[in-house]
Amino acid sequence: MPSHLRIDGRRLYGRLEQLGQVGALPGGGVSRLALSDADRGGRDLVVGWMRELGLQISIDAIGNVVALRRGQEEGAPVMTGSHIDTVRTGGRFDGNLGVLAGLEVMRTLEDAGVRTRRPLAVAFFTNEEGSRFQPDMMGSLVYAGGLPLQEALATVGIDGTTVAENLSRIGYAGAAPVGAPRVHAYVELHIEQGPVLEAEGFTIGAVEGVQGISWSEFTLSGESNHAGTTPMRLRHDAGFVAAEIASFARRLARELGGDQVATVGALTLSPNLVNVVANRALLTVDLRNTDEDRLQLAERRLFEFAAKAASDEGVGLSRRSLARFEPVAFDRELVARVEAIARGLGHRVRRLPSGAGHDAQILASVCPACMIFVPSTRGVSHNVEEYTSPMDVQAGGDVLLQLLLELAQ
Ligand code: HGY
Ligand code: MN
Ligand code: MN
Repeated sequence: MPSHLRIDGRRLYGRLEQLGQVGALPGGGVSRLALSDADRGGRDLVVGWMRELGLQISIDAIGNVVALRRGQEEGAPVMTGSHIDTVRTGGRFDGNLGVLAGLEVMRTLEDAGVRTRRPLAVAFFTNEEGSRFQPDMMGSLVYAGGLPLQEALATVGIDGTTVAENLSRIGYAGAAPVGAPRVHAYVELHIEQGPVLEAEGFTIGAVEGVQGISWSEFTLSGESNHAGTTPMRLRHDAGFVAAEIASFARRLARELGGDQVATVGALTLSPNLVNVVANRALLTVDLRNTDEDRLQLAERRLFEFAAKAASDEGVGLSRRSLARFEPVAFDRELVARVEAIARGLGHRVRRLPSGAGHDAQILASVCPACMIFVPSTRGVSHNVEEYTSPMDVQAGGDVLLQLLLELAQ
């Protein structure tokens, strides 16, 4: 086992910076919403790098891209990967690190003349973020059979266009059957996107699992009216009810404590004018918890509050679920291997859950899966300030290399 091998961290960091130029925001950060022209640009660049490595590339009907490196034997590959779509105010590392580190591992093996017994694959999955088209992890969900392809293709995004029309517009409606190739195991390197590793001085996170995720969209319909002439007792103010729900969500998270988090990330009022009582409000509530029972309790409390707040104000309320994932535990043996390999490479490592959703949690439904975390500076992510140091990128890439070698030999 070429355990002496290390990735070329500088080369990987340079690739991260190069990919970060696609959809670059003025003043730093990246915006490559799923299936946008910027996403196409990122996809084209990464597929070009896959081609340079002589990998066998397949694109499936939801736009997932898998690049295969032959093994000494045929059979199910060991896969690594992540996503390259970003949120609107994204950073260079979220998702991109896992995909580019996978390519770096392949380049390192090529340079060292190492041919693993099993084939290796690097993938990027379509629309992991779920910001433009819900649910998140859409591409890997279709790959794993958790979401029918046609339903995913018919999904209408926040801008009113469908996945299908955008996928063909950017030229990534592939011919490969979804769900192929079946894989032997899946390992994803990702930034932590939270404060734990940095705050406690750890370089590597051996991720034990991913917390449950519940995304709801509330539509409130009231009555527009004059802000000056309408007595308070006669109002049906959709904006007021939206604000009540948003502040309740925050209070609920504080009251439930533990791992409970709640976020109102999207809120639009109409007609959204200074002197008109809003007749319509649309808001999303993202609830997460590592404990499924507590997450269901949080959902019940939120939905009850919203219904009462709306009826007290004489405002109509409709609710739809945008995404719902139960907590997932990663393969215990793989988690232990991440820990042992990190220690063997001299890195401080600790186990922790993932607060963010990842493709690995979906792959875990079809093969043994695990994740390797590296620290996020100031725990910041989904923010243009997102940053991980070259040293930590090197460490994460080396742990990934060794684990992939172990699994593929
Ligand atoms: O929302 C998430 O956790 C992920 O970034 N899609
Ligand atoms: Mn991510
Ligand atoms: Mn993300």
